Amino acid sequence: MQKDPNLLVGLDVSDDAGVYRLTDEIALIQTLDFFTPIVDDPFDFGRIAAANSLSDVYAMGGRPLTAMNIVCFPIKEMDNKVLRSILEGGLETLKRADTILVGGHSVEDPELKYGLSVTGIVHPQKFLTNAGARPGDLLILTKPLGTGILATALKADMLEGDATRRITELMATLNKDAAQAMEGLKINACTDITGFGLLGHGLEMASASNVGIRIHAEKVPVIPETIEFASMGLVPAGSYTNQKFCSKQLQVDDTVDPLLIDIFSDPQTSGGLLISVPKDIAPSLVERLTEKKTPAASIIGEVSGSNPGMIQFY
Ligand code: CO
Ligand code: CO
Ligand code: CO
Repeated sequence: MQKDPNLLVGLDVSDDAGVYRLTDEIALIQTLDFFTPIVDDPFDFGRIAAANSLSDVYAMGGRPLTAMNIVCFPIKEMDNKVLRSILEGGLETLKRADTILVGGHSVEDPELKYGLSVTGIVHPQKFLTNAGARPGDLLILTKPLGTGILATALKADMLEGDATRRITELMATLNKDAAQAMEGLKINACTDITGFGLLGHGLEMASASNVGIRIHAEKVPVIPETIEFASMGLVPAGSYTNQKFCSKQLQVDDTVDPLLIDIFSDPQTSGGLLISVPKDIAPSLVERLTEKKTPAASIIGEVSGSNPGMIQFY
């Protein structure tokens, strides 16, 4: 492992992005994400991929500045128009994030993939990680869960147009407003909910912060159709992989519907922020999130000093 006194967050921890100090006032945040299409419409896919890529900067409490496209495209099989539309969607989202596209790279690949590398800035003493959660904190989630399950339903052609529209907008929603709501408040820890689901990312926070994470199952916001499709078995393989991976550090009370655990493990695309905040600050944060109309502003649980490195659903 490389050592550098200016490397503030690096490979040795499982956080959202790398943080590197340039001066006493400015640190660089760098992150990279790309994936295969999750919706059929190329423009929407571009918007979602960009919102997802920008999210790690917001999760660190930073401000994105520049971005670069990463494209894998089956140039022989697919119309160039599709690619143009994806890139336009990405650009539209970057504009909403006040982020400048500075370049990119594309390769020919039988499987279409798109994403971005994003660079942002943050004060070197004020960035947020998943390692600062303290016993007594409350946990707040800013988007409802279920995009993995609903994307599976979409692929199976079982999702209605209206529901497709709603999850598309949810995934294309930037975590910018949520990040702005945190500004100036004492926030102890933050991460975004993506591929490892609430379970995996919650557990990362528990381990990194050496605390216990307790989630009140009933309080977790879930996209309405999710339970219906999960009960039909439309649960992505990633949900079970996440459960298996976390099983030794997971405790589930008898009162919790097992179906909910599938939803808590559901891999999210462009999910919301999970924020750990001192109890007395939580009402102000919820109020600010509500004012900004983030998709959710729910207190879903609390941080405990017992059972460090564990996550409990009750
Ligand atoms: Co992340
Ligand atoms: Co990421
Ligand atoms: Co972070």
